[in-house]
Amino acid sequence: MIERQFDIAFIADLALREKQIQQNYRPVIAVHKWFARRPGTLFRGLLLSEFATRPLKQAFYQPNAFEGIQIADPFMGGGIPLIEANRLGCNIVGYDINPMSYWIVKEEIDLSCSDATGKKLPPASVDGVFTDPPYFGNVQYAELMDFCYVWLRKLTGKDLAVFKKPSTRNANELTANVNMGRNIEDFTKGLSHVFQQMARALKPGSPLVFTYHHNAITAYYPVGVAILDSGLVCSASLPCPAEMGASIHINGTGSSIIDTIFVCRSTGKFPRRWLVENAEELVLIIEEDIEKLRLANVRLTYGDLRCIIFGHLTRLAIWNLRNHWDDGIQADEKIKRVADWVDAFGGLVAVEEHLKPMLSEIPRSRKMAIHEPEPIYEGPDSQISF
Ligand SMILES: C[S@@+](CC[C@H](N)C(=O)[O-])C[C@H]1O[C@@H](n2cnc3c(N)ncnc32)[C@H](O)[C@@H]1O
Repeated sequence: MIERQFDIAFIADLALREKQIQQNYRPVIAVHKWFARRPGTLFRGLLLSEFATRPLKQAFYQPNAFEGIQIADPFMGGGIPLIEANRLGCNIVGYDINPMSYWIVKEEIDLSCSDATGKKLPPASVDGVFTDPPYFGNVQYAELMDFCYVWLRKLTGKDLAVFKKPSTRNANELTANVNMGRNIEDFTKGLSHVFQQMARALKPGSPLVFTYHHNAITAYYPVGVAILDSGLVCSASLPCPAEMGASIHINGTGSSIIDTIFVCRSTGKFPRRWLVENAEELVLIIEEDIEKLRLANVRLTYGDLRCIIFGHLTRLAIWNLRNHWDDGIQADEKIKRVADWVDAFGGLVAVEEHLKPMLSEIPRSRKMAIHEPEPIYEGPDSQISF
């Protein structure tokens, strides 16, 4: 099970290297954020932690064939979770509202279950949902995709059903977007709807696992609501690098390269010591996370730390609200209940108060810069072109 087997230091080390490679050797088509692709190593690590019978480090480098395991991804984007599940021999089913995503994943893997798109998955039919939902308003997938979509549409032909529309914009895209009039409540309702459907499709005790990060705690409230509405418990919030430090939206800012991996189940077990009562106790868990990331050579910034804290606060809010959760009330009231719980716990401020000595040593932002020697253009042997 992920809660016991996922080795943060081992996977964080691999994920960091993978993102570094992507950063150094970026193809020209990667100028856009695309779908905010997550590292394959991260999802391979999660799948193996859940389904392999051998220790993770052993299973990671050996062939695995998980026949009969059904994995779903409701937000497949560029398809990383599905590709990794497919490599391990799982049956897969994926959805994405964006035609570019559908087309890309179709090219990458034989989507044998693709005609399930748009249909509800049968109840208790899935062994795991591994996904990477939209990060509130962080990335506007359709707006970015449209830059590439116009060209792909020209090349592949408008006759293809998925390329009929002139733009990939869609009112139902799950992002907060001022121009399209979508706010935090729309995002909450949409995410909750998808998670509820996925929870129904999961076999009892099977995991819904997803990566998430944002600079603002408010963007975590919809996540809390969606998990609570689905009747699941968050049994782990694990940190792992998943972004490139040099990404346009991260370099030189206080943003995080660390995602929280939320592991959620209807029933299961997790270490009792992860349930803490106050900020002082939570800091002990966070210090363990930091130590594991340091073992993986992650140079933590304040932005990373903040996301780790937000992940744990959300996990604890879900645990504490679950017994009296009313899924029938309005979305704004649900958001408020999660926010009120986080505030009553003391929020980010209380946790930072207990992390003070460490905070002064952590850089506020991540700066990636390459300093090349000054090129010399003039010299005795310089040539002139004509
Ligand atoms: C963070 S990205 C997924 C990235 C992916 N894991 C990868 O590695 O490339 C989120 C995806 O959710 C999709 N999405 C947004 N709203 C959706 C909706 N209502 N239904 C299905 N997919 C949606 C976006 O088009 C985007 O591709």
